[in-house]
Amino acid sequence: MEADALRERFDALRSSEFRRLDEGGHVYLDYTGSGLYGESQLRSEQELLRHHVLGNPHSENPTSSEATRIVQRTRHDVLDFFGADPSDYTVVFTANASGALKLVGEAFPFGPGSRFVLPRDNHNSVNGIRVFAEARGAEVVYLPLDDELRLAAGTVIPPSGSEPGLFAFPAQSNFSGVQHPLDLVEKARSLGYVVALDAAAFVPTNPLDLSAVSPDFVCVSFYKMFGLPTGVGALIARRQALAGLQRPWFAGGTVEYVSVQNRIHQLQPGAAGFEDGTPNFLGIAAVSAGLGFLREVGMERIHERVAGLTERLLDVLSTPRHPDGNPLVTVYGPPTTDARGGTVAFNLVDAEGGVVPYGVVERAASTAGISLRGGCFCNPGASEAAFHLPAADALRCFQSMRQGSFTLKKVAECLGHEYAVGAMRASLGIATNEADLDRLEEFLVRFAAGEVPVERAAAAG
Ligand SMILES: Cc1ncc(COP(=O)(O)O)c(C=O)c1O
Repeated sequence: MEADALRERFDALRSSEFRRLDEGGHVYLDYTGSGLYGESQLRSEQELLRHHVLGNPHSENPTSSEATRIVQRTRHDVLDFFGADPSDYTVVFTANASGALKLVGEAFPFGPGSRFVLPRDNHNSVNGIRVFAEARGAEVVYLPLDDELRLAAGTVIPPSGSEPGLFAFPAQSNFSGVQHPLDLVEKARSLGYVVALDAAAFVPTNPLDLSAVSPDFVCVSFYKMFGLPTGVGALIARRQALAGLQRPWFAGGTVEYVSVQNRIHQLQPGAAGFEDGTPNFLGIAAVSAGLGFLREVGMERIHERVAGLTERLLDVLSTPRHPDGNPLVTVYGPPTTDARGGTVAFNLVDAEGGVVPYGVVERAASTAGISLRGGCFCNPGASEAAFHLPAADALRCFQSMRQGSFTLKKVAECLGHEYAVGAMRASLGIATNEADLDRLEEFLVRFAAGEVPVERAAAAG
């Protein structure tokens, strides 16, 4: 689409669907934290709730059957949205992407002789799978990152071993916005791995076509895609791969039968065997409207729009200078829009070259009405690589803190303020416009000029 037409289209969308942003004076730049819902989604949800009487699924009565029908239709809509063939894939509804990853981790048949392989750039909900792997004697292999926080050149994925191996990676980093090559899926599969693709940060602004790229498992959180509902995510799973998992327990809704006196049970086949208890059926009922909303705007168009704005964001971050000409901002990760999404991690540097604690920046930005995220974004591997934290020093500092006493401020003090221990993150989405980035630029320019009141006493966190 031509640039002007694209801008007009998204400007119209901002005023018709997201006017609450401007009414409230918000500059919202935390789309990787959560997407925003369009007003038309609200109307669809209200209509649906007003006209249907929905009971707890899993029964034959009319209101239960209606809820079951809506849940099943939504499963179909999710597969359709991602181009997944229903004869190959199914959808397990979960609370969020983390819930989807946990289902895989806890049920994966790890054992001595198998490997769990993952890049250092991963959300903790993927990192956490290593606890299941290690507990069952599997080897955990982290793949290194380069200075752009991409997989280091020449990185070799070791073959999966004698037992089933799992390879997991994010399609887009929630820290740096790096888009790891999707051909890793086939590479890892050809080495014998079951592949889990963490698509949580990718799918809100990029098309994902599971007929072209076919991981065994994909996890998403719907609120990240379209804001509403919260509390619903999905594990989109190859039926065959799902059948290879070994559930460690059963719960209401997952079983064909349970005998207490005989102590036996049989799980339901397919997705039902993985959905513990009553599904969030009213939340699930709102998913199709969200998918329809994105489809109507067009994922390719959203991608194009966000790519254009990301270029501008990188520019906004690289422009402000201190009076002596030194840059105000250090960006972590790729400096260009090449193979990256609209998520950028950065820190501000003071006139003496020291990192301004992210908590100070976050609070100052908040006062200016700008929602940025501060911290490590649950991605410790990308953070450690970005900040060049020496492993031994970090270990000493982490271990010096008893459970319950940990703060990033204390880590910063322990490391001697030489290292950043957290960063700021700006992330763009469907409703971002040029004016948002102008406001961010204005804030940064004022910050560089010393015109932004900051709490100098506050350290990180
Ligand atoms: C890449 C990635 N994976 C997983 C998650 C976990 O998502 P949730 O908190 O919705 O479970 C996030 C959340 O930010 C994410 O960005």
